[in-house]
Amino acid sequence: MIKSDIRIARSFLNDEVYIKSRSKADLGLEQLKSKTGPGSEWLGWRDILAKPNDAELEEISQLATKIRQDADIFIVCGIGGSYLGAKAVIDALTPHFRANGPEILYAGHHMGGKYLEELIAYLKAPNSDGSKKSIYINVISKSGSTLETALSFRAIREVMEEMYAEDVIKRIICTTSKEGGILNPQIEAKKYKKFIIPDDVGGRFSVLTPVGLLPIAVAGIDIKTLFYGAVSAYNRFEDDAEEILEYAALRNALHEEGYTIDVFACFEPELKSLGGWIQQLLGESEGKEGKGIFPAVAAYSTDLHSLGQFIQQGQRSVIETFIIVEKPFSKLKVSEIDGNDDKLNYLAGKSFHEINNSARLGTTEAHHEGDVPILNISIDTLNEENIGELIYFFELLTGVFVYSLGVNPFNQPGVEDYKKAMYRLLGKEG
Ligand code: PA5
Repeated sequence: MIKSDIRIARSFLNDEVYIKSRSKADLGLEQLKSKTGPGSEWLGWRDILAKPNDAELEEISQLATKIRQDADIFIVCGIGGSYLGAKAVIDALTPHFRANGPEILYAGHHMGGKYLEELIAYLKAPNSDGSKKSIYINVISKSGSTLETALSFRAIREVMEEMYAEDVIKRIICTTSKEGGILNPQIEAKKYKKFIIPDDVGGRFSVLTPVGLLPIAVAGIDIKTLFYGAVSAYNRFEDDAEEILEYAALRNALHEEGYTIDVFACFEPELKSLGGWIQQLLGESEGKEGKGIFPAVAAYSTDLHSLGQFIQQGQRSVIETFIIVEKPFSKLKVSEIDGNDDKLNYLAGKSFHEINNSARLGTTEAHHEGDVPILNISIDTLNEENIGELIYFFELLTGVFVYSLGVNPFNQPGVEDYKKAMYRLLGKEG
């Protein structure tokens, strides 16, 4: 279960500013629920939780089980909302040094030629026992025409067609819109397996559709528990969204007060990708019409040794949001050694969780003294259910907060500008 603690951040605001923002947040939630705000045709991410599609969850789970039995490598080929959610959940819930199941690799998320070249060489190289690698790819693109993804898919598909002349079709799974785009004609011609991204779910809100669910399931994560974690958050916030309203109001008030950067910081490295997903979800939704708070991502204590100085004493425009896991999820403790030559015996017997927790409390104390408004978002345990809840928590927060700014959360007109310029430089027709 998620808990939010906004007390430190709230102490930076006077009641008048907060109360004004609170009424904007109330209106934002009302617009979302009544589907009367701008972009209301994109609210399918709420509807999929109101009416879960158990048959699809089962179909994805079954296909994932088959792939896990056969694959050495599973490539997630997508960019932005088409891969960040899957990566967030996979990094949070699977071991750092995985022993079981296919290796999950990413492609189509940039245009680095060196990366793709090395990936292809790695795919072609045999396993350590000399056998050919068993590779599957899931190409994920709602529009079906994103250049980064399409280019990588073209190159990897060519390799796979050479490697698996007979059964290449079963190794290529496409996730795209029902109709349109450049992928759909390829799917029809080659008879690839296809999953549909609902028309009314935008990329950055799509992690709980086949976009995120297939890669997550292939990584060995229980997608039904994840999905139903989000459903339980949905039901809870339909009854009482006080926590979301408070958080959205607070962020709106801090925006009004001129705060321009929100650092989403975790204290466990496995949660950094979750920060990356939150960054895209909020960033692409709020950053329009000259408005928004720039979402940054940090993994502490690593980044306390790079960003910490700025946050403590630099320009006072930074908010911090800590993503916290309360219960320990590792058993590692500091040992006692003879001679104490590294002078660490004062920590002997303490768990790394306790030490890390002291780092968080110390950071809170120092940054608070340094005039940084801090918010805490906590889950008790790192598991599927809680990550599912967190996903919906941040989706709903994004919708309510961005509506409170008076902006459409669900489009991204600015992203098109670089594409137009790039296509012109590349001489694309039409
Ligand atoms: O949130 C979004 O809509 C974007 O980040 C898209 O997910 C991203 O641009 C990829 O688009 P597509 O899935 O059409 O390839």
